[in-house]
Amino acid sequence: MLAIIGGRGLTELANLKITHRQVMRTPFGEPSCAFLFGTLNEHEVIFLARHGYGYTIPPHLVNYRANLWALREQGVNEVISVTTVGGIRGDLTPGLLVVPDQVIDYTHGRDCTFFNSRNTSYKNIDFTQPYDAVMRARILHSARQVQQPCLDGGTYAATQGPRLDSVAEVNRYERDGADMVGMTGMPEAALARELDMAYASIAVVVNYAAGRGDSQFAINMESVNATARSAMVRVRTILERVCTD
Ligand code: HPA
Repeated sequence: MLAIIGGRGLTELANLKITHRQVMRTPFGEPSCAFLFGTLNEHEVIFLARHGYGYTIPPHLVNYRANLWALREQGVNEVISVTTVGGIRGDLTPGLLVVPDQVIDYTHGRDCTFFNSRNTSYKNIDFTQPYDAVMRARILHSARQVQQPCLDGGTYAATQGPRLDSVAEVNRYERDGADMVGMTGMPEAALARELDMAYASIAVVVNYAAGRGDSQFAINMESVNATARSAMVRVRTILERVCTD
């Protein structure tokens, strides 16, 4: 069973035929909102709006553990996360879609593991390749099939937010090897791995990161939202195809 976790610009999936919605509870609290169960191109999927339907939950307050735990409980073993990012690398311009292959975690204070007790056994998950290779290939293949350009690979810097970055911070991420910056990629990817779910991400570049391109002095949130909205039309086309392949 496939789940899609949507972010900015994707709080609903217009092409999803909804069969029912359900409020979930977990030992870690409640997910961001009710799960939408439905079909995309005749394939069963669950859709979850990461920030809630009203887009009210900031990235550092998303209950990532509850989201993934509840999905797992519903039999989900594949997750496609849709996130928005600022482009650091020169060719990552607003509107571009990327399927990242690496991550650097700059977040702090988030509940980043299910192994949070001194009294139960734990495992050190392998995170050499943080995103599932098969799921990445599936997304890229589907994007080609529907003729939507989608870049293969890139390093995602996960920052704490909810504020955007300073120029010096973006310069540091770049020195560290990051190509794009967003706020929700972690701990989501690691938690999915802890639950043995195949997880990959479609990152939508919605702005130049601070100090890059036209973001020398400020990032225009109106244009961020407009870029996100229009890019999500293309993301939906890819997701529909992923379900068919
Ligand atoms: N920085 C951090 N997170 C983001 C950005 C950004 O520029 N754009 C979208 N999410």
